[in-house]
Amino acid sequence: VSARLTIDPHFTVGPINRRLFGSFVEHLGRCVYDGLYEPGHPTADAEGFRQDVIDLVTELGVSTIRYPGGNFVSGFRWEDSVGPVAERPRRLDLAWHSTETNEVGLHEFSNWLDKVGSELMLAINLGTRGTMEALDLLEYANLPGGTALSQQRIDNGRTDAFGVKMWCLGNEMDGPWQLGHRSAEDYGKLASQTAKAMRQLDPSVELVACGSSSAHMPTFGEWERVVLTHSYDDVDYISCHAYYQEKNGDLGSFLASAVDMDHFIDSVTATADHVKAVLGSSKTIDISFDEWNVWYLDRYEDVDRIEGIDNWPVAPRLLEDAYSVADAVVFGNLLISLLRHADRVTSASLAQLVNVIAPIMTEPGGPAWKQTTYFPFALTSRLATGDALDVKLESDDYETAVYGTVPLVDAVATHDASTGSTSVFLVNRSQHEPATVTIDIAALGAVAVREAQTLTDTDTSAKNVLGDEERVGLVATESVVVGDGGVTIILPPVSWTALSLG
Ligand code: AHR
Repeated sequence: VSARLTIDPHFTVGPINRRLFGSFVEHLGRCVYDGLYEPGHPTADAEGFRQDVIDLVTELGVSTIRYPGGNFVSGFRWEDSVGPVAERPRRLDLAWHSTETNEVGLHEFSNWLDKVGSELMLAINLGTRGTMEALDLLEYANLPGGTALSQQRIDNGRTDAFGVKMWCLGNEMDGPWQLGHRSAEDYGKLASQTAKAMRQLDPSVELVACGSSSAHMPTFGEWERVVLTHSYDDVDYISCHAYYQEKNGDLGSFLASAVDMDHFIDSVTATADHVKAVLGSSKTIDISFDEWNVWYLDRYEDVDRIEGIDNWPVAPRLLEDAYSVADAVVFGNLLISLLRHADRVTSASLAQLVNVIAPIMTEPGGPAWKQTTYFPFALTSRLATGDALDVKLESDDYETAVYGTVPLVDAVATHDASTGSTSVFLVNRSQHEPATVTIDIAALGAVAVREAQTLTDTDTSAKNVLGDEERVGLVATESVVVGDGGVTIILPPVSWTALSLG
Protein backbone atom coordinates (compact mmCIF):
# COMPACT_ATOMS: atom_id res chain seq x y z
CA VAL A 1 0.00 0.00 0.00
CA SER A 2 1.32 3.46 -0.75
CA ALA A 3 0.10 7.01 -0.22
CA ARG A 4 1.44 10.52 -0.71
CA LEU A 5 0.51 13.77 0.90
CA THR A 6 1.74 17.34 0.93
CA ILE A 7 2.01 19.60 3.92
CA ASP A 8 1.99 23.30 3.25
CA PRO A 9 1.01 25.74 6.03
CA HIS A 10 -0.70 27.85 3.36
CA PHE A 11 -3.28 25.11 2.66
CA THR A 12 -5.36 25.99 5.71
CA VAL A 13 -8.82 24.58 6.35
CA GLY A 14 -9.37 26.75 9.42
CA PRO A 15 -8.30 27.37 12.99
CA ILE A 16 -8.78 24.46 15.38
CA ASN A 17 -11.19 25.44 18.12
CA ARG A 18 -10.18 23.84 21.44
CA ARG A 19 -13.84 22.93 21.88
CA LEU A 20 -13.26 20.23 19.26
CA PHE A 21 -11.75 18.20 22.11
CA GLY A 22 -14.81 18.18 24.29
CA SER A 23 -16.52 15.22 25.93
CA PHE A 24 -19.83 14.28 27.50
CA VAL A 25 -20.90 13.21 30.99
CA GLU A 26 -24.44 11.88 31.24
CA HIS A 27 -26.28 10.64 34.30
CA LEU A 28 -26.27 7.18 32.80
CA GLY A 29 -25.03 3.89 34.21
CA ARG A 30 -21.75 4.32 36.11
CA CYS A 31 -20.53 7.46 34.39
CA VAL A 32 -21.12 9.73 37.39
CA TYR A 33 -21.81 7.36 40.32
CA ASP A 34 -19.07 4.73 40.74
CA GLY A 35 -17.29 6.54 37.91
CA LEU A 36 -15.99 10.03 38.49
CA TYR A 37 -17.75 10.13 41.90
CA GLU A 38 -17.17 7.42 44.50
CA PRO A 39 -16.90 8.80 48.06
CA GLY A 40 -15.67 5.49 49.50
CA HIS A 41 -12.83 5.04 47.04
CA PRO A 42 -9.26 5.14 48.44
CA THR A 43 -8.37 8.05 46.11
CA ALA A 44 -11.59 10.02 46.76
CA ASP A 45 -11.10 13.67 47.67
CA ALA A 46 -13.09 15.58 50.32
CA GLU A 47 -15.99 15.99 47.88
CA GLY A 48 -16.11 12.30 46.95
CA PHE A 49 -14.45 12.61 43.54
CA ARG A 50 -11.91 9.98 42.53
CA GLN A 51 -8.48 11.57 42.20
CA ASP A 52 -7.29 8.79 39.88
CA VAL A 53 -10.12 9.68 37.47
CA ILE A 54 -9.39 13.41 37.79
CA ASP A 55 -5.78 12.69 36.84
CA LEU A 56 -6.76 10.60 33.82
CA VAL A 57 -9.31 13.16 32.59
CA THR A 58 -6.75 15.96 32.99
CA GLU A 59 -4.15 14.02 31.01
CA LEU A 60 -6.76 13.23 28.33
CA GLY A 61 -6.97 16.95 27.54
CA VAL A 62 -10.73 17.51 27.46
CA SER A 63 -11.92 21.05 26.76
CA THR A 64 -15.71 21.38 27.10
CA ILE A 65 -17.94 18.78 28.78
CA ARG A 66 -21.59 18.41 27.83
CA TYR A 67 -23.85 17.63 30.82
CA PRO A 68 -26.16 16.09 32.17
CA GLY A 69 -27.47 14.24 29.07
CA GLY A 70 -28.22 12.81 26.57
CA ASN A 71 -31.53 11.02 26.69
CA PHE A 72 -31.50 11.51 30.47
CA VAL A 73 -32.02 15.26 30.15
CA SER A 74 -35.41 14.90 28.49
CA GLY A 75 -36.90 13.67 31.78
CA PHE A 76 -34.75 15.79 34.11
CA ARG A 77 -35.89 18.51 36.50
CA TRP A 78 -32.78 20.62 37.13
CA GLU A 79 -34.21 21.90 40.44
CA ASP A 80 -33.85 18.35 41.86
CA SER A 81 -30.08 18.54 41.54
CA VAL A 82 -29.38 21.69 43.59
CA GLY A 83 -29.71 22.54 47.29
CA PRO A 84 -28.87 20.37 50.33
CA VAL A 85 -27.98 16.88 49.08
CA ALA A 86 -29.95 15.15 51.84
CA GLU A 87 -33.13 16.87 50.67
CA ARG A 88 -32.79 16.04 47.00
CA PRO A 89 -35.43 13.66 45.64
CA ARG A 90 -34.79 10.26 44.15
CA ARG A 91 -36.36 10.20 40.69
CA LEU A 92 -37.03 7.73 37.94
CA ASP A 93 -34.76 8.05 34.93
CA LEU A 94 -37.09 6.78 32.21
CA ALA A 95 -34.45 6.97 29.49
CA TRP A 96 -32.18 4.38 31.10
CA HIS A 97 -34.72 2.69 33.40
CA SER A 98 -32.70 3.63 36.47
CA THR A 99 -33.05 5.63 39.70
CA GLU A 100 -31.39 9.04 39.85
CA THR A 101 -30.38 9.97 43.41
CA ASN A 102 -29.35 13.53 42.50
CA GLU A 103 -26.39 13.20 44.86
CA VAL A 104 -24.27 14.87 42.18
CA GLY A 105 -25.85 17.93 40.60
CA LEU A 106 -24.95 21.20 38.96
CA HIS A 107 -22.80 22.58 41.81
CA GLU A 108 -20.90 19.36 42.43
CA PHE A 109 -20.29 18.79 38.73
CA SER A 110 -19.08 22.34 38.25
CA ASN A 111 -16.62 21.85 41.13
CA TRP A 112 -15.37 18.67 39.46
CA LEU A 113 -14.91 20.55 36.17
CA ASP A 114 -12.66 23.02 37.97
CA LYS A 115 -10.53 20.09 39.13
CA VAL A 116 -10.09 18.73 35.60
CA GLY A 117 -9.82 22.16 33.97
CA SER A 118 -12.81 21.80 31.62
CA GLU A 119 -15.65 24.10 30.59
CA LEU A 120 -19.33 23.30 31.24
CA MET A 121 -21.76 22.86 28.33
CA LEU A 122 -25.32 22.48 29.64
CA ALA A 123 -28.18 20.70 27.94
CA ILE A 124 -31.72 21.82 28.78
CA ASN A 125 -34.81 19.66 28.81
CA LEU A 126 -36.95 20.51 25.78
CA GLY A 127 -38.54 17.06 25.78
CA THR A 128 -40.86 17.14 28.78
CA ARG A 129 -40.28 20.79 29.75
CA GLY A 130 -40.17 24.11 27.94
CA THR A 131 -39.00 27.70 27.63
CA MET A 132 -39.89 28.75 31.19
CA GLU A 133 -37.81 26.02 32.83
CA ALA A 134 -34.92 26.81 30.49
CA LEU A 135 -35.10 30.46 31.55
CA ASP A 136 -35.19 29.45 35.21
CA LEU A 137 -32.05 27.36 34.84
CA LEU A 138 -30.28 30.10 32.89
CA GLU A 139 -31.19 32.67 35.55
CA TYR A 140 -30.04 30.32 38.32
CA ALA A 141 -26.77 29.60 36.53
CA ASN A 142 -25.77 32.89 34.91
CA LEU A 143 -27.41 35.85 36.67
CA PRO A 144 -24.96 37.44 39.15
CA GLY A 145 -27.67 38.10 41.77
CA GLY A 146 -30.66 40.15 42.82
CA THR A 147 -33.47 37.69 42.01
CA ALA A 148 -35.01 34.72 43.76
CA LEU A 149 -33.29 32.15 41.54
CA SER A 150 -29.87 33.78 41.55
CA GLN A 151 -30.15 34.19 45.32
CA GLN A 152 -31.05 30.51 45.60
CA ARG A 153 -27.76 29.67 43.86
CA ILE A 154 -25.89 31.96 46.24
CA ASP A 155 -27.65 30.38 49.22
CA ASN A 156 -26.65 26.99 47.84
CA GLY A 157 -23.02 28.00 48.21
CA ARG A 158 -22.12 29.51 44.86
CA THR A 159 -21.62 33.26 45.01
CA ASP A 160 -20.28 33.74 41.48
CA ALA A 161 -22.50 32.90 38.55
CA PHE A 162 -21.56 29.70 36.70
CA GLY A 163 -21.31 31.76 33.50
CA VAL A 164 -22.24 28.87 31.21
CA LYS A 165 -21.68 29.82 27.57
CA MET A 166 -22.63 26.69 25.59
CA TRP A 167 -26.23 25.45 25.82
CA CYS A 168 -27.88 22.56 23.98
CA LEU A 169 -31.55 23.17 23.19
CA GLY A 170 -32.71 19.67 24.10
CA ASN A 171 -31.30 16.34 22.98
CA GLU A 172 -31.97 14.20 19.89
CA MET A 173 -35.49 15.56 19.46
CA ASP A 174 -35.74 13.74 16.09
CA GLY A 175 -35.48 10.33 17.80
CA PRO A 176 -38.72 8.40 18.49
CA TRP A 177 -37.03 7.06 21.66
CA GLN A 178 -36.69 10.57 23.06
CA LEU A 179 -39.09 11.65 25.81
CA GLY A 180 -41.10 14.44 24.18
CA HIS A 181 -39.95 13.58 20.66
CA ARG A 182 -41.28 16.18 18.23
CA SER A 183 -41.63 16.84 14.54
CA ALA A 184 -39.02 19.11 12.94
CA GLU A 185 -41.67 21.86 12.63
CA ASP A 186 -42.63 21.70 16.30
CA TYR A 187 -39.09 21.41 17.55
CA GLY A 188 -37.80 24.17 15.25
CA LYS A 189 -40.44 26.58 16.61
CA LEU A 190 -39.75 25.59 20.22
CA ALA A 191 -35.98 25.93 19.74
CA SER A 192 -36.43 29.36 18.17
CA GLN A 193 -38.75 30.60 20.90
CA THR A 194 -36.53 29.24 23.69
CA ALA A 195 -33.36 30.62 22.11
CA LYS A 196 -34.89 34.10 21.75
CA ALA A 197 -36.00 34.05 25.38
CA MET A 198 -32.60 32.85 26.62
CA ARG A 199 -30.81 35.60 24.70
CA GLN A 200 -33.15 38.18 26.21
CA LEU A 201 -31.81 37.07 29.58
CA ASP A 202 -28.17 36.52 28.59
CA PRO A 203 -27.10 37.66 25.09
CA SER A 204 -23.67 36.03 25.53
CA VAL A 205 -24.91 32.42 25.38
CA GLU A 206 -24.00 30.16 22.45
CA LEU A 207 -26.90 27.95 21.45
CA VAL A 208 -26.99 24.53 19.79
CA ALA A 209 -30.12 23.33 18.00
CA CYS A 210 -30.64 19.57 17.77
CA GLY A 211 -29.72 18.14 14.40
CA SER A 212 -30.22 14.49 13.51
CA SER A 213 -29.35 11.64 15.88
CA SER A 214 -27.49 10.06 12.99
CA ALA A 215 -27.11 10.47 9.25
CA HIS A 216 -29.21 7.32 8.92
CA MET A 217 -32.38 8.69 10.47
CA PRO A 218 -35.30 8.67 8.00
CA THR A 219 -35.72 12.42 8.49
CA PHE A 220 -32.01 13.24 8.06
CA GLY A 221 -31.44 16.34 5.91
CA GLU A 222 -35.04 17.47 5.96
CA TRP A 223 -34.90 17.68 9.77
CA GLU A 224 -31.95 20.08 9.62
CA ARG A 225 -33.56 22.15 6.86
CA VAL A 226 -36.86 22.59 8.69
CA VAL A 227 -35.35 23.15 12.15
CA LEU A 228 -32.93 25.77 10.84
CA THR A 229 -35.59 27.44 8.72
CA HIS A 230 -37.42 28.18 11.99
CA SER A 231 -34.41 28.95 14.18
CA TYR A 232 -31.60 30.18 11.90
CA ASP A 233 -31.33 33.68 13.36
CA ASP A 234 -31.62 32.44 16.95
CA VAL A 235 -29.00 29.67 17.21
CA ASP A 236 -25.27 29.36 16.59
CA TYR A 237 -24.84 25.64 16.00
CA ILE A 238 -26.68 22.63 14.67
CA SER A 239 -25.67 19.34 16.31
CA CYS A 240 -24.52 16.06 14.75
CA HIS A 241 -24.45 12.71 16.55
CA ALA A 242 -22.80 9.57 15.16
CA TYR A 243 -21.82 6.18 16.56
CA TYR A 244 -20.05 3.43 14.66
CA GLN A 245 -19.61 -0.30 15.24
CA GLU A 246 -18.31 -3.30 13.36
CA LYS A 247 -21.30 -5.15 11.97
CA ASN A 248 -21.48 -8.76 10.74
CA GLY A 249 -17.72 -9.18 10.95
CA ASP A 250 -17.20 -6.59 8.20
CA LEU A 251 -14.00 -5.00 9.52
CA GLY A 252 -13.22 -3.40 6.14
CA SER A 253 -16.36 -1.25 6.17
CA PHE A 254 -15.98 -0.49 9.88
CA LEU A 255 -12.43 0.79 9.31
CA ALA A 256 -13.89 3.24 6.76
CA SER A 257 -16.39 4.76 9.23
CA ALA A 258 -14.77 8.20 8.89
CA VAL A 259 -16.00 8.25 5.27
CA ASP A 260 -19.51 8.28 6.69
CA MET A 261 -18.62 11.01 9.18
CA ASP A 262 -17.13 13.13 6.36
CA HIS A 263 -20.34 12.71 4.37
CA PHE A 264 -22.47 13.53 7.41
CA ILE A 265 -20.58 16.77 8.10
CA ASP A 266 -20.57 17.81 4.44
CA SER A 267 -24.32 17.16 4.17
CA VAL A 268 -25.22 19.15 7.28
CA THR A 269 -22.95 22.00 6.22
CA ALA A 270 -24.61 22.06 2.79
CA THR A 271 -28.08 22.03 4.35
CA ALA A 272 -27.25 24.86 6.77
CA ASP A 273 -25.80 26.87 3.88
CA HIS A 274 -28.92 26.18 1.81
CA VAL A 275 -31.08 27.69 4.55
CA LYS A 276 -28.65 30.61 4.76
CA ALA A 277 -29.08 31.23 1.03
CA VAL A 278 -32.87 30.96 1.13
CA LEU A 279 -33.07 33.38 4.06
CA GLY A 280 -30.48 35.73 2.55
CA SER A 281 -28.63 35.62 5.85
CA SER A 282 -25.04 36.78 6.32
CA LYS A 283 -24.64 34.53 9.36
CA THR A 284 -23.04 31.08 9.16
CA ILE A 285 -24.16 28.17 11.33
CA ASP A 286 -21.41 25.88 12.65
CA ILE A 287 -21.61 22.24 13.68
CA SER A 288 -21.45 21.02 17.24
CA PHE A 289 -20.63 17.32 16.80
CA ASP A 290 -21.73 16.76 20.36
CA GLU A 291 -21.92 12.96 20.38
CA TRP A 292 -19.43 10.79 18.51
CA ASN A 293 -17.72 7.49 19.24
CA VAL A 294 -17.58 3.78 18.56
CA TRP A 295 -20.58 2.19 20.33
CA TYR A 296 -21.75 -1.42 20.18
CA LEU A 297 -25.37 -0.31 20.40
CA ASP A 298 -26.62 -3.80 19.51
CA ARG A 299 -25.22 -5.08 22.78
CA TYR A 300 -27.20 -2.50 24.73
CA GLU A 301 -30.39 -3.39 22.85
CA ASP A 302 -29.89 -7.16 23.22
CA VAL A 303 -28.16 -7.61 26.60
CA ASP A 304 -27.99 -4.54 28.83
CA ARG A 305 -31.46 -3.05 28.55
CA ILE A 306 -33.28 -2.88 31.92
CA GLU A 307 -37.00 -3.59 32.23
CA GLY A 308 -39.67 -4.15 34.92
CA ILE A 309 -41.88 -1.83 37.01
CA ASP A 310 -40.03 -2.95 40.17
CA ASN A 311 -36.53 -2.73 38.72
CA TRP A 312 -34.97 0.75 38.71
CA PRO A 313 -31.36 0.29 39.81
CA VAL A 314 -28.99 3.07 40.86
CA ALA A 315 -25.93 3.35 38.60
CA PRO A 316 -26.25 -0.02 36.85
CA ARG A 317 -23.56 -1.27 34.49
CA LEU A 318 -24.76 0.07 31.15
CA LEU A 319 -22.99 0.67 27.84
CA GLU A 320 -19.65 -0.46 29.27
CA ASP A 321 -18.09 -1.24 25.92
CA ALA A 322 -14.49 -2.53 26.00
CA TYR A 323 -12.62 -1.10 23.03
CA SER A 324 -10.24 -3.03 20.81
CA VAL A 325 -7.24 -1.80 18.83
CA ALA A 326 -9.40 -1.78 15.69
CA ASP A 327 -12.01 0.33 17.53
CA ALA A 328 -9.29 2.81 18.52
CA VAL A 329 -8.02 3.05 14.93
CA VAL A 330 -11.54 3.91 13.75
CA PHE A 331 -11.86 6.34 16.67
CA GLY A 332 -8.58 8.05 15.72
CA ASN A 333 -9.86 8.29 12.15
CA LEU A 334 -13.05 9.99 13.38
CA LEU A 335 -10.84 12.62 15.02
CA ILE A 336 -9.08 13.05 11.66
CA SER A 337 -12.48 13.66 10.05
CA LEU A 338 -13.41 16.26 12.68
CA LEU A 339 -10.09 18.08 12.20
CA ARG A 340 -10.47 18.00 8.41
CA HIS A 341 -13.69 19.99 8.93
CA ALA A 342 -12.28 22.41 11.51
CA ASP A 343 -13.67 25.35 9.54
CA ARG A 344 -17.25 24.29 10.32
CA VAL A 345 -17.01 21.80 13.18
CA THR A 346 -16.03 24.16 15.96
CA SER A 347 -17.32 22.12 18.88
CA ALA A 348 -17.43 18.36 19.46
CA SER A 349 -18.04 16.01 22.38
CA LEU A 350 -16.66 12.52 22.65
CA ALA A 351 -19.56 10.48 24.05
CA GLN A 352 -18.83 9.69 26.78
CA LEU A 353 -16.04 10.08 29.35
CA VAL A 354 -16.10 7.51 32.19
CA ASN A 355 -17.37 3.88 32.12
CA VAL A 356 -20.20 4.55 29.64
CA ILE A 357 -18.81 4.07 26.09
CA ALA A 358 -15.76 5.73 27.54
CA PRO A 359 -12.00 6.14 27.17
CA ILE A 360 -11.68 5.76 30.98
CA MET A 361 -12.93 2.78 32.99
CA THR A 362 -13.15 2.30 36.75
CA GLU A 363 -13.90 -0.45 39.23
CA PRO A 364 -15.57 0.40 42.55
CA GLY A 365 -12.80 0.43 45.17
CA GLY A 366 -10.38 -0.61 42.43
CA PRO A 367 -8.36 0.79 39.56
CA ALA A 368 -9.11 3.37 36.90
CA TRP A 369 -7.55 2.68 33.52
CA LYS A 370 -7.18 3.81 29.93
CA GLN A 371 -9.11 2.11 27.16
CA THR A 372 -7.49 1.86 23.71
CA THR A 373 -9.45 4.91 22.56
CA TYR A 374 -7.84 7.03 25.26
CA PHE A 375 -4.56 7.19 23.34
CA PRO A 376 -5.65 8.76 20.04
CA PHE A 377 -7.79 11.30 21.88
CA ALA A 378 -5.05 12.36 24.31
CA LEU A 379 -2.42 12.64 21.61
CA THR A 380 -4.63 14.47 19.12
CA SER A 381 -5.83 16.88 21.80
CA ARG A 382 -2.22 17.64 22.77
CA LEU A 383 -0.69 17.86 19.27
CA ALA A 384 -3.47 19.28 17.06
CA THR A 385 -3.04 23.01 17.66
CA GLY A 386 -3.12 26.03 15.38
CA ASP A 387 -4.73 25.47 11.97
CA ALA A 388 -5.99 22.30 10.32
CA LEU A 389 -4.41 21.76 6.89
CA ASP A 390 -5.65 20.22 3.68
CA VAL A 391 -3.01 17.57 2.85
CA LYS A 392 -3.92 16.77 -0.79
CA LEU A 393 -3.85 13.04 -0.07
CA GLU A 394 -3.39 10.44 -2.82
CA SER A 395 -3.74 6.84 -1.65
CA ASP A 396 -4.29 3.33 -2.92
CA ASP A 397 -7.83 2.26 -2.23
CA TYR A 398 -9.99 -0.77 -1.42
CA GLU A 399 -13.55 -1.95 -1.81
CA THR A 400 -15.98 -1.87 1.10
CA ALA A 401 -19.45 -3.38 1.22
CA VAL A 402 -20.95 -0.30 2.86
CA TYR A 403 -19.03 2.69 1.48
CA GLY A 404 -17.81 1.48 -1.93
CA THR A 405 -14.23 2.33 -2.95
CA VAL A 406 -12.36 4.20 -0.22
CA PRO A 407 -8.72 5.21 0.41
CA LEU A 408 -6.56 2.76 2.37
CA VAL A 409 -4.73 5.61 4.08
CA ASP A 410 -6.38 8.64 5.62
CA ALA A 411 -4.61 11.65 7.10
CA VAL A 412 -4.87 15.23 8.24
CA ALA A 413 -2.22 17.72 9.35
CA THR A 414 -2.14 20.71 11.65
CA HIS A 415 0.26 23.62 11.85
CA ASP A 416 0.81 25.94 14.78
CA ALA A 417 2.54 29.14 13.68
CA SER A 418 3.03 30.22 17.29
CA THR A 419 5.16 27.18 18.18
CA GLY A 420 6.40 26.22 14.73
CA SER A 421 5.12 22.68 15.20
CA THR A 422 3.38 20.63 12.57
CA SER A 423 1.49 17.44 13.35
CA VAL A 424 0.25 14.70 11.07
CA PHE A 425 -2.37 12.12 12.04
CA LEU A 426 -2.61 9.02 9.86
CA VAL A 427 -4.45 5.72 9.69
CA ASN A 428 -3.79 2.62 7.64
CA ARG A 429 -7.09 0.85 7.01
CA SER A 430 -5.48 -2.13 5.31
CA GLN A 431 -6.04 -5.30 7.34
CA HIS A 432 -2.95 -7.10 6.10
CA GLU A 433 -0.49 -4.74 4.36
CA PRO A 434 1.75 -2.02 5.79
CA ALA A 435 1.39 1.35 4.06
CA THR A 436 4.38 3.41 2.95
CA VAL A 437 3.47 7.07 3.13
CA THR A 438 5.55 9.81 1.53
CA ILE A 439 5.01 13.28 2.93
CA ASP A 440 6.18 16.32 0.99
CA ILE A 441 7.28 18.84 3.62
CA ALA A 442 9.32 21.15 1.36
CA ALA A 443 7.12 24.09 2.43
CA LEU A 444 8.06 23.57 6.09
CA GLY A 445 11.79 24.17 5.65
CA ALA A 446 14.18 22.26 7.90
CA VAL A 447 12.32 20.25 10.53
CA ALA A 448 13.03 17.25 12.71
CA VAL A 449 10.79 14.64 14.30
CA ARG A 450 9.68 15.79 17.75
CA GLU A 451 7.47 12.83 18.48
CA ALA A 452 6.03 9.85 16.58
CA GLN A 453 3.71 7.28 18.17
CA THR A 454 1.58 4.51 16.76
CA LEU A 455 -1.36 2.52 18.07
CA THR A 456 -1.29 -0.99 16.60
CA ASP A 457 -1.14 -4.63 17.64
CA THR A 458 -0.78 -7.94 15.84
CA ASP A 459 -4.07 -8.80 17.57
CA THR A 460 -6.47 -6.09 16.41
CA SER A 461 -9.04 -7.34 18.93
CA ALA A 462 -6.71 -6.70 21.92
CA LYS A 463 -8.28 -4.58 24.70
CA ASN A 464 -7.42 -3.11 28.07
CA VAL A 465 -9.67 -4.81 30.62
CA LEU A 466 -9.82 -5.26 34.39
CA GLY A 467 -6.88 -7.47 35.36
CA ASP A 468 -5.01 -6.59 32.16
CA GLU A 469 -5.40 -2.82 32.16
CA GLU A 470 -2.22 -2.02 30.22
CA ARG A 471 -2.35 -4.67 27.51
CA VAL A 472 -2.51 -2.03 24.73
CA GLY A 473 -0.56 1.22 24.57
CA LEU A 474 1.27 3.46 22.13
CA VAL A 475 4.54 2.39 20.58
CA ALA A 476 7.30 4.64 19.23
CA THR A 477 7.09 4.85 15.43
CA GLU A 478 10.55 3.60 14.42
CA SER A 479 9.97 3.83 10.67
CA VAL A 480 9.96 7.65 10.27
CA VAL A 481 12.76 8.99 8.08
CA VAL A 482 13.13 12.72 7.45
CA GLY A 483 15.02 13.45 4.24
CA ASP A 484 15.48 16.38 1.89
CA GLY A 485 12.03 17.98 1.72
CA GLY A 486 10.28 14.73 2.52
CA VAL A 487 9.30 12.27 5.21
CA THR A 488 8.64 8.59 4.72
CA ILE A 489 6.79 6.57 7.27
CA ILE A 490 5.56 2.99 7.28
CA LEU A 491 2.18 2.43 8.90
CA PRO A 492 1.44 -1.10 10.16
CA PRO A 493 -1.86 -2.71 9.08
CA VAL A 494 -4.86 -1.44 11.11
CA SER A 495 -2.97 1.35 12.81
CA TRP A 496 -3.26 4.97 13.90
CA THR A 497 -0.18 7.23 14.07
CA ALA A 498 0.60 10.74 15.29
CA LEU A 499 3.72 12.47 14.05
CA SER A 500 4.95 15.81 15.33
CA LEU A 501 7.56 17.81 13.38
CA GLY A 502 9.24 21.06 14.30
O1 AHR B 1 -24.48 8.60 24.58
C1 AHR B 1 -25.51 7.67 24.80
C2 AHR B 1 -26.84 8.14 24.24
O2 AHR B 1 -26.75 8.20 22.85
C3 AHR B 1 -27.29 9.52 24.62
O3 AHR B 1 -27.97 9.57 25.84
C4 AHR B 1 -28.22 9.88 23.50
O4 AHR B 1 -28.27 11.27 23.28
C5 AHR B 1 -27.71 9.10 22.32
O5 AHR B 1 -28.71 8.40 21.70
